[in-house]
Amino acid sequence: MGAHSTAGTAHDGVGGADAAVDGVPGDGPAAAREDAPALTLRAIVRRFWRYTTGDRSKLMAAFLLMALATACDTYVVTMFARIVDGATVARSMDAVWPSAVEWMVLTAVGGLLSVLGGSLMVGAAERFVFRLRHDVFAHLQRLGPSFFSAHPTGDLISRLSTDIDGVEGLASSGIVTTIIAVGTAIAYASAAVLVRWQLAVIVVALAPLMWVTSRITGRFTRTAARVERAAAGEVGTSIQQSLQNLPIVQSYGTEHVESARLDHHGTVWWRARARESRLQMIYGPITTIIQSGALLAVLIAGAAFIASGELTVGGLFGFAAYLGYLYPPLSQLGSLHLTVTSASASCERLLEILDAEPEVRDAPGAADSPVAHGRVELRDVRYVYPGTESAGLDGVSLEVRPGQFVLVTGPSGAGKSTLTRMLLRFVDVQSGAILLDGVDVRDRTISSVRAAVTLLPQKPMLFDLTVRENIAYARPDASDDEIEAAARDAGALDFIRELPDGFDTVVGEDGASLSGGQRQRLAIARALLRTSPILVLDEPTTGLDAPTARAVLDPLRRLSGGRTTIVVSHDLTPARDADLVVVLDEGRVVQQGRHADLLTRRGVYADLWAAQQGHRPDDGSDAGSDDDLEPRTSRVPAAVLAAAASGSPRRGALRPTPAPTPAPTPRPVPPPRRRGPVPALVPDAVTNPLRLLALAAADAALTRPTALHPGASNASLRAPRDRKPGIVGSAPSAAPAPSPAAPPGRPAPAPAPAHAVPATTSGPRYTPTAMPVPGPRDPASGPTPASRPHPSSGPAPASRPHPSSGSSRHDGTSSPRRRTVADLVSGAPAGRSAHRRPDAETSSPR
Ligand SMILES: Nc1ncnc2c1ncn2[C@@H]1O[C@H](COP(=O)(O)OP(=O)(O)O)[C@@H](O)[C@H]1O
Ligand SMILES: [Mg+2]
Repeated sequence: MGAHSTAGTAHDGVGGADAAVDGVPGDGPAAAREDAPALTLRAIVRRFWRYTTGDRSKLMAAFLLMALATACDTYVVTMFARIVDGATVARSMDAVWPSAVEWMVLTAVGGLLSVLGGSLMVGAAERFVFRLRHDVFAHLQRLGPSFFSAHPTGDLISRLSTDIDGVEGLASSGIVTTIIAVGTAIAYASAAVLVRWQLAVIVVALAPLMWVTSRITGRFTRTAARVERAAAGEVGTSIQQSLQNLPIVQSYGTEHVESARLDHHGTVWWRARARESRLQMIYGPITTIIQSGALLAVLIAGAAFIASGELTVGGLFGFAAYLGYLYPPLSQLGSLHLTVTSASASCERLLEILDAEPEVRDAPGAADSPVAHGRVELRDVRYVYPGTESAGLDGVSLEVRPGQFVLVTGPSGAGKSTLTRMLLRFVDVQSGAILLDGVDVRDRTISSVRAAVTLLPQKPMLFDLTVRENIAYARPDASDDEIEAAARDAGALDFIRELPDGFDTVVGEDGASLSGGQRQRLAIARALLRTSPILVLDEPTTGLDAPTARAVLDPLRRLSGGRTTIVVSHDLTPARDADLVVVLDEGRVVQQGRHADLLTRRGVYADLWAAQQGHRPDDGSDAGSDDDLEPRTSRVPAAVLAAAASGSPRRGALRPTPAPTPAPTPRPVPPPRRRGPVPALVPDAVTNPLRLLALAAADAALTRPTALHPGASNASLRAPRDRKPGIVGSAPSAAPAPSPAAPPGRPAPAPAPAHAVPATTSGPRYTPTAMPVPGPRDPASGPTPASRPHPSSGPAPASRPHPSSGSSRHDGTSSPRRRTVADLVSGAPAGRSAHRRPDAETSSPR
């Protein structure tokens, strides 16, 4: 794939875009699955049949009504011969009129029956899709971290929207068409046999040709459909990721890179889509040729029968009419095969979700009793993330008595967040055990464990709802007084009152209209509202400056009253209040005890404490906040530089921090020591001139952030263990490469997305000017071939642009709602509940 540089897209327009996807369909994630056995209609029906529960009697009634309608239509055709022969052979109109009346009445009845049957059927089909989406989503919510590491959000949204639409097309029109077509074909074929079996043989003999044609076309369609579905997922992913990281994209001026990435996937998508449609188009003319051949054969044979007196002209008319009625359903059956083939690519993507096993399940007979006291015990707990070598936790033992306040600390990547995940049973231990009130969490139901443990996650994770709804998320039945009390305890009441609509202010996606500290305090208020015996707080001061961190930690102490509280933090501020301090490193407990005792012992903790007293780095570790985007001019604190120089750099170590808080009692940094598996955090920076040089360069680069190319992120300075977990896709990581196509003297071309860049190239670290991206024709706006069997399967919504999306943001009066990333990815129209206030949206900085 290395040759498919999308940088070409940026310069060469459509031609470049075409070049970018040479080799499709052997490209992309679908490639690996092209040879997978096709999901047949039978397999699809078998897997999805259960979603018809509750509608099966309606389906039966619909089938019956349609069968009756077909019978009416079939009988009407017998009138052909009667009317023609009545007029021509008997030379009397007396026989004609009754037949004509019968004809009209039966046709009308048949039409009525088919409308009734069809509407029953369509209702059942749409409910089928509704249930399917419900189930896929419900199942998705039970899946664990490793599933989401492998499936980017944008792709999942695309599955739940576009792929569900694909199945909808099959269920609503596809299945209805099949039933009608099969019934009609059987009825007309039998009638034709009764009229004149010799002619019927000619007709039926040609039918298999249609079947073969559709099989062959279907085989090619399947490949195209799989590529198309996968590309639609990639389109969704790239839109979602770009929009989610928009502040970075805009501040680094890499809009063209993101557009090029979208164009790359968009080009794969439209090519596959067009290929699929073209293949389906071929099927039509071929069946027409087969049909005319059959008609000609019938005419010739019929003429011979008339000549020999075995058949009347009316008889031949009647027979030709059957033929006219018989072929459309046969042809529909053939194209249905193509529809099934296309939809099966969508079915496969939905089944991939439905077949994914949740990492954690309730054991049979698991206890559902509530955890009363909040005693937490870890016994030699070990957990290795699937697909990795290094252990998240490696033999951790710990005992926390009810009501104790425990601080778990350690460098980034030590396993602190993994510990919180295990306490909540997002994942289960691979060996050892975690006990709540003396009972193994695996012997409790997941819901009882989660009811007992309240998590304050590392990222605040707010919903695009009002402040009130966000707090009440913990307990929807909470009264306004309780919500206000929680906000007060969390230290959030003052800022909430200053918001334009107070508690009714909509906070934006992920709390976009709030500052990092405000978001965190809302999350704390939400946690406070939950009544559970155990509180787990993951990095509650992440990304906050020291005064804000203290403002956040104060209520935490209050809220921990009586409850078992486990605070996971690199910030040692709460240490003095803690009943127990646990130091983790590389998944192991390296020290534990009370703060004062640990200080008297020489070791990691004493080093960490000394370093923090001197510099109080608020290096946030994994999550950032909007505060981080504010320009800061301060230099990198010495402790952070030293840590980076030690060869165990931590994420965020290079993030500039505000001026260090002067320590009340500055302590000298103890000499570096290496004891056990723990690397000293403040080692030999001063003794290693090369490292000092590198650090000086990094420091200088930080004061001029624009000079750093986005591709040259801190990634290269990051320790291998320090990887962000969670919902991430194939994020770009490679440095930009110069396009080989760039003529000399021109500015360096737009850097290609990481996937298009050979890993070995090292490009210029600075891109002077953003080149305009003359992308390929917008795939979504292209004409959809008329032969597309299902109108519902129009251009993939995942890539449909919303021209209105940009204008709505600053228009507080006309637009009811700012679009969320998910809206844009799925192509869903903006909807808004009544409480949404336009002025709140305009305050959103996003
Ligand atoms: N979803 C994941 N998949 C694979 N490895 C992970 C995942 N999450 C964390 N890890 C790894 O587990 C180790 C501990 O991570 P974590 O518990 O997040 O550390 P901390 O919270 O102390 O910074 C790290 O080496 C990290 O790379
Ligand atoms: Mg963490």
